[in-house]
Formats: sequence, C-alpha cells, structure tokens
Amino acid sequence: MPDFHRVIAIDGPAASGKSSVARELARRLGFVYVNSGAIYRAITWYMLRRGIGPDDGGRIARTVESAQISCRLKNNESRVWIDDVDPTNHLRDDLVNKAVSRVSTVPEVRKIVTEKMRNYARAHDVVIEGRDIGSVVFPHTPGKFYIDASPEVRFRRRVAEGQRDEIAARDRADSSRRASPLTVAPDAQVIDTSHLTIEEVIDKIVERLKLKGLPL
Ligand code: CDP
Ligand code: CDP
Repeated sequence: MPDFHRVIAIDGPAASGKSSVARELARRLGFVYVNSGAIYRAITWYMLRRGIGPDDGGRIARTVESAQISCRLKNNESRVWIDDVDPTNHLRDDLVNKAVSRVSTVPEVRKIVTEKMRNYARAHDVVIEGRDIGSVVFPHTPGKFYIDASPEVRFRRRVAEGQRDEIAARDRADSSRRASPLTVAPDAQVIDTSHLTIEEVIDKIVERLKLKGLPL
C-alpha cells in the first residue's frame, strides 16, 4: 500500500458499535477518525433536499458528480460539506435513515465516497468505519475488523438512542446489493460486541494489531 498511511478498517452492520469503537480507538492511537457512512448520509440528504428520490439512479449519478463534496477534518475527525453547506444536523433524520441504503447502491456515489476515503488515508493514519472498508476500499490493509452484535442487541441500542431506524431493513439492503455489499472480508477478525463494552472491544483490536506486529 505505498500510497497510504496506516489504515485500520472497521466494518459491520448497523448499531454494532462501529462509530463508538472507531472514534475512541483513533483517539487512543492518535489516528484520524473517518466515518464513511456520514458521507453516504450527507449525499442522501442532499438528494432528498433537491427532490431527487432514492430510486432515481440516473439523476443521483448526475447530481453527485456535479456536487461540490468537500471532506475535511475537525478535531481529528472527518467532516463533510456539500456545496458549502454543513449537513451534520440532518445525517440521522428519519428520511435519511430510510433512503440511505438505496442511494448507496448507485455506483457513481460509491466511486466518489471511495476516493474520499483513500484521500484521507493518503494524508493521515486513519481508523475508518463503514461497510466495505476492508473488502473494497482498502483490501490490502492488515488491520481489518468486522464487528457484529445480535440483531436484538443492536435494535435495543438504537432504541436507547431514541432513534427511529429500521436497522433490519437497512442491513438486508446493504448485504444484498450488487455493488460492494456488506460482507466479512476473508482476512478480517470478527468480534461479537453483544456482551462487550466499547473499551473491551478496543482492547481486543489493539491486542490483535500488536499480535500482527503492526507499528502503533
Ligand atoms: O451508523 P450506522 O451503522 O447506522 O450507519 P452508517 O455507518 O452511518 O451508514 C449508513 C448507510 O450508508 C449504511 O446503511 C449503508 O447503506 C451506507 N454505507 C455504505 O454503503 N458503505 C459504507 N462504507 C458505509 C455506509
Ligand atoms: O456505528 P454503529 O451504528 O455501528 O454503532 P454506534 O453508533 O457506535 O453504537 C450504537 C450504540 O450502541 C451507541 O449508543 C453505543 O454507545 C452503544 N454501544 C454499546 O452499548 N456497546 C458496545 N459494545 C457498542 C456500542
């Protein structure tokens, strides 16, 4: 991976703990934390705001290619702006939750987000979370994790956050799509977080990275 700094890839289904684990792991290691789902959500919000439906792949492709998508850093974390608007407060809107898996199937969208992820890793050591980070975006990184939890635990976690989010439907759509589906990369370490705290998950990841001899 001559182009890239150190990359730790964390994939998994909704509410498996990716964001909490990736953010804290990045902080511990002094890496930049990158949330790829936030970029898919930002693009989805942008389409909905312009009246473009999640199944209109042709218009989504044309619109995403002409949009000004700017990925920067704030406090060592990724932040996205579209056409100079900061969509952060809308990323977890119900309408975005419902539409994001369909917008994310559009190949032009995936291509742009993938390139943004790689740009972060060209400039920084990164912990990146998503669905296809270890399988497609950085297939050669040795630091690759798939974190999971039972559907019941994940559902309870979202409810505890006060969110209306049909995670089972999103997981089905993300796992069954043709382009870069959610899948366990053959060389990923799988961690079931159902009965683990965030700290315990991070300890397991750090232990594994040390075992593999990765310089931290
Ligand atoms: O945090 P949560 O697991 O609920 O979702 P997220 O990481 O914010 O991702 C939202 C949606 O974006 C997912 O359900 C996928 O449809 C899409 N996504 C993707 O297709 N590929 C990624 N690398 C990350 C997210
Ligand atoms: O990013 P993802 O959707 O995979 O999950 P998250 O937003 O990091 O976690 C969803 C919720 O579950 C958060 O409120 C976490 O604090 C909680 N969580 C937990 O209680 N225990 C874990 N081992 C992981 C996450």
